[in-house]
This record gives sequence, structure tokens and C-alpha cells, in this order.
Amino acid sequence: MTERPQPSPAAPVALPADARDRLIVALDFPSAAEAITLVDRLDGACQWFKVGLELYLAAGSSIIKALEDRGHSVFLDLKLHDIPNTVAGAVRSVAAIGPGLLTVHAAGGPVMLKAAADATANGPVLLAVTVLTSMDGPQLQSVGVFDSPADQVLRLANVAIASGIRGLVCSPEEVGRLRAALGPQIILVTPGIRPAGSAAGDQKRTATPGVAIAAGASYLVVGRPITEAPDPAAATRAIVDEIAAAGKSAI
Ligand code: C5P
Repeated sequence: MTERPQPSPAAPVALPADARDRLIVALDFPSAAEAITLVDRLDGACQWFKVGLELYLAAGSSIIKALEDRGHSVFLDLKLHDIPNTVAGAVRSVAAIGPGLLTVHAAGGPVMLKAAADATANGPVLLAVTVLTSMDGPQLQSVGVFDSPADQVLRLANVAIASGIRGLVCSPEEVGRLRAALGPQIILVTPGIRPAGSAAGDQKRTATPGVAIAAGASYLVVGRPITEAPDPAAATRAIVDEIAAAGKSAI
């Protein structure tokens, strides 16, 4: 098994030098077999894979082991959001499975976030999800949030950082503002990525890979523009090339 690049829960954040290590492909599939077929088709074109609720609930922790056995790094996107004691226990259970990154919802509030951060001493790096990239202003208003998505993202980001969380998930539209406000040490992970010409689908706050990296994203999450591409490996390589080109002129 090759050594997998993982951010450490305690160490300062160093951006991966290789653009292949800054792309996280979202494996939003209903079975392990379909996910592994895609991983094998990509043939090492990227390092990281994201396992979300659909795949994790279908395949269980064995999918994480299968990815790690292939030398890949795993982002487990469970978006935990519950009372502090329950989330802390879930974080400890996930630590035993061994992914490099794990998400919690920043909207869980400071006590929940601190409980999660305290529970992950030896486990995955926690990322706090701010406002889902599928939410826009009217949708936020429908659940009682009358600030703009950008203001709500910044509010939740500050709550998460003050609670001991070192990474955030935000849309490309907010990444520049968060990078400027929070400095270089915070990990910013950005879904809602759409290469030029690809369909937005249900995503509302999107940008191209180059724009997101130039604005300060540490890692990009890309799903359907790769998994639904006629040639997923070629789509992956094109995004990695765009990350490399934008990274040269960015942070
Ligand atoms: O297919 P697409 O590129 O839109 O996939 C984006 C991935 O990022 C999905 O797996 C989705 O669950 C995840 N995600 C997101 N917005 C967030 C957090 C995670 O789209 N705020």
C-alpha cells in the first residue's frame, strides 16, 4: 500500500504540492461496485475520494477500506448534526474507521462543534459545512435565515473556527472572502465546482475549478462533472490541469 497524503488533526496546514492531491472526487453511487468501477477507471488521476451518505449507507465502512487499500485518501462526508454527546460519539466511531476528513454541520452550534473537535484528537480532520451549495437566498429565507448566503457562511465559519474546527466546506462564491477573513491556515473545501460548459444540476453557487483555486480553495470536490462524463479519466485530468495552472498564480 502506498503512503496516503492526509492532513493531520494537529499540524499546520500545508497545501499538497501535487494538483492531483487537491481534487476530491465525490463517489455519489448507490453501491460499492459502481463506486469502485469509477475509481478504477480513473486509474490514479486523483488521490482523494469522497464517500457521502448514499454510498456509506449502502456499502458501510468496507468501502473506506477498499479505497485505502488502493492507496487513496478518503473524505467521509456524513455531515453530522445532532446533540453534542451523540456527535462526539459518532466522531470517535469514525476515527476507528480511519478516513482523513469528516464533515459536521456548523449549524449544530458551538457546543456541538467543540464536542466534535475534542473527540477527534487522533481521528480525521473535521470540516464544518457552512451553507450547502444547493441553498440560495430564497431557500435560506424559507428556513428563517434572512442574511445573505455569504453573510451566513461567514457567521458559521467564525463559530466553527472559534469552536476548534480547522476546516470548512463552502461554495466557490464565498471562498475568497473566507480566505481573506480567516488566513492561510484554515482548510477550505469547495464543492459546487463546474468546469466551463458543464451542467449546474441542483447546485446554485458554482464556479470553475480555476476560479475556485485562484480564490483560495485548498481542495475542490467534484462529482457529476466527472462521474457522468463520457470519459471520466479525461475529465479528471482536465480539472487537475486547471488546478495546477490556477495554483501557480494563487496563494
Ligand atoms: O455532483 P456534484 O459535483 O454537484 O457533487 C458535489 C458533492 O459535494 C456532493 O457529494 C454533495 O453532497 C457535496 N456537497 C455539496 N455542498 C456542500 C457540501 C457537500 O455539494 N455544502
